[in-house]
Amino acid sequence: MNLIRHFSALAALILCLTATMPGARATDITPAPLSAEIGAPCLPIPEAPAYRTNMNAADLTDLKAYLPSYPLKLRQANYGERPWLTINVDSCAAMGPEAYLLTVSDSGVTVTAADAAGAFYGLQSLAMLARDSDSLPAANITDAPRLPYRGAHMDVSRHFFGIDHIMKQLDLLAAYKINRLHWHLTDSEGWRLEIPSRPLLTELAAWRPQRLYSDWRKAGRRYCPRDSAGAYGGYYTADDVRRVVEYARLRHITVIPEIEMPGHSAEVCAAYPELACSGKPYTQGEVCIGREETFDFFKDVLDEVMRLFPSHYIHIGGDEASRRHWRQCPMCQQRIREEGLGDEAGLQSYMIRRIEAYVNSHGRDIIGWDEILDGGLAPHATVMSWRNVDGGIRAARMGHDAIMTPEEFCYLDHPQDDPSTQPKAFGSPVTLFKAYSFDPAPDSLGTDVARHIIGVQGNNWAEYIPTPEHSEYMLYPRIIALAEVGWSQPARKDETSFRRRINDEIRHIRSIGYNAFTLSPRVAFTQDVDYARRCILVSMATERHPADIRYTTDGSEPTASSPLYTGPVSIEGSATVTARIFQPDSLPGPCTRIRADYHKAIGCSVVYADSCGYYRDRKVYMAGGDSALTDGLRGGKTYTDGRWQGFCPNSLDVTIDLGSVTEVSHVMANFMQMRTPLIFLPASVDIWASTDGKHYRLLGHDEPEGSEAEADACFTELGWHGDPEPARYIRFRATQGRRQFMFTDEIVIL
Ligand code: ACM
Ligand code: ZN
Repeated sequence: MNLIRHFSALAALILCLTATMPGARATDITPAPLSAEIGAPCLPIPEAPAYRTNMNAADLTDLKAYLPSYPLKLRQANYGERPWLTINVDSCAAMGPEAYLLTVSDSGVTVTAADAAGAFYGLQSLAMLARDSDSLPAANITDAPRLPYRGAHMDVSRHFFGIDHIMKQLDLLAAYKINRLHWHLTDSEGWRLEIPSRPLLTELAAWRPQRLYSDWRKAGRRYCPRDSAGAYGGYYTADDVRRVVEYARLRHITVIPEIEMPGHSAEVCAAYPELACSGKPYTQGEVCIGREETFDFFKDVLDEVMRLFPSHYIHIGGDEASRRHWRQCPMCQQRIREEGLGDEAGLQSYMIRRIEAYVNSHGRDIIGWDEILDGGLAPHATVMSWRNVDGGIRAARMGHDAIMTPEEFCYLDHPQDDPSTQPKAFGSPVTLFKAYSFDPAPDSLGTDVARHIIGVQGNNWAEYIPTPEHSEYMLYPRIIALAEVGWSQPARKDETSFRRRINDEIRHIRSIGYNAFTLSPRVAFTQDVDYARRCILVSMATERHPADIRYTTDGSEPTASSPLYTGPVSIEGSATVTARIFQPDSLPGPCTRIRADYHKAIGCSVVYADSCGYYRDRKVYMAGGDSALTDGLRGGKTYTDGRWQGFCPNSLDVTIDLGSVTEVSHVMANFMQMRTPLIFLPASVDIWASTDGKHYRLLGHDEPEGSEAEADACFTELGWHGDPEPARYIRFRATQGRRQFMFTDEIVIL
């Protein structure tokens, strides 16, 4: 590859480089570069290093405007002065957009790139090499992005954040080579962009009496005029937007505005009720597509948006529109008939196509959430795939570009650790390593499809993010994991190296004033089953580094002299495994415990009652299928780990055949509650036993404790434990009564 040839030529210039020199440190550049040889310290870093560049005048002006934010206090070399750093931008250089070469030798630093963005990223890597040090190591780094679109999304509708917060994040996002800010400017919780021709959007629909989203919901989701006492909210003026866009541009970040339509638009209907099917405020969250006024409105808005934002892409939302009002609206129905749209999905698609044509007529393109595939995809649209990756793949197969941001891996509004230890957040955990494990464009898709997957993005929805500090807490460090997903080649991704690097990054970014999550202090367990050896294999992991895991299997608290975890621990029969981490200069971490049982029902058949709400339609909700409840595989803290089985809307009602009559003294199942995705514990469970499959006797009844039933997030075991009873068949019935999801992973019989 050309890049490598270029790299070899420059490598010859390096005098003091040795890849494995004593004292050399491992590559400390995040996201991991394409290739890096890092040697021993060889070049002192002066107080104010001098640089020289051949950049064109416009790029140099931009660089100079950016440099006050750069960690090294660079200054332009004086005439005749030998530069410490040379920045070569050569559009003929044999490398792609955003790529760079960075070499360090005892005679200086060179950054070479074909464009200003590449030079900028070379400087970011240089800053990482220079961090906390008075000299640079010898280095020879060749680097290029895997994907051209590496995005961070910020929702400023649910809670409003001022531009200082946005610009502070742009500084850090750019350091990790993120190049898109997806600014979610409008939603039912507040309109955040001043539109001179539609003043009520920001006079009314940008303010509410309650600061917290949940209080506002409980109070009936009403806005209040901007000048009312205690009004909470805000919006961006044209000048604010220009400042953010320019600040981002200097950091090679494009700001993509999102204007939601036709759903997530209750605030539009509140400010301009004539755009609702009913003509009344507070009646619906999606605009009327039958009315021409709706198109006039969005054209006015988009005119201003395209005036303020130079971004080629304009995000037009398109997600989660309820079609209920369109079904009953004479004007929407007339539109469906007149345009031959078939149904309400066709109606939504009609709107997106018309809006796309308008945006295209201004030389721009639209992005929409994956629902824009329903009812027919607009001809030039790029799809942002959020429900999972399927929409993105479908779009890519149709020759459209796609950006992957599946909730399971990329939603930063989800908790990043056991939810019972975290501030209120949405859904089940997306841990750092879950985000890191995502591959947006696996080889298995084939090159024709994969080449349309242009990027990856982390989404920071702000329903439960009331403050700027909390916004940072949810963004970092997971957005850095996604930066590496987007930038680094899959072969360069490495969990062990990333764990070490990300712990360093967290320490660093906290030291410069960002409220990053410091990673879980708790050991995470995974259980696997060795059916041949009839034992459970317990694996343990920590996100922290450096950290040792020590554990016990007798229920006692591990101490510094307990066994050190080095690999899966096998448990025959039953045991409680307790583990905690030990880090230098810190107290031991909190203990975490799990029960591991190679129990009597493993491998036994399960019959699901006809009335049972066993959710067979979605792979992630059915776990391992009909044998999931007796496969010995226990779930972790997230219901999407393929081990939790979902039941909805009726009860769980199963009968397990143990194969022969045996003594049973314990029948328990673990349940989870997570209120935000509407997963609830059962109200009660009943357990019956039978020796013949015909006559059953009740063994026990159990209910969650009041505090568990009230919890936002909890895990609890429910079942029966008692004197041994003879049984061949065990019936386990859990009733919830809410018609919401109920999840369990295993029915343990001892
Ligand atoms: C979304 O999360 N509704 C795009
Ligand atoms: Zn209508």
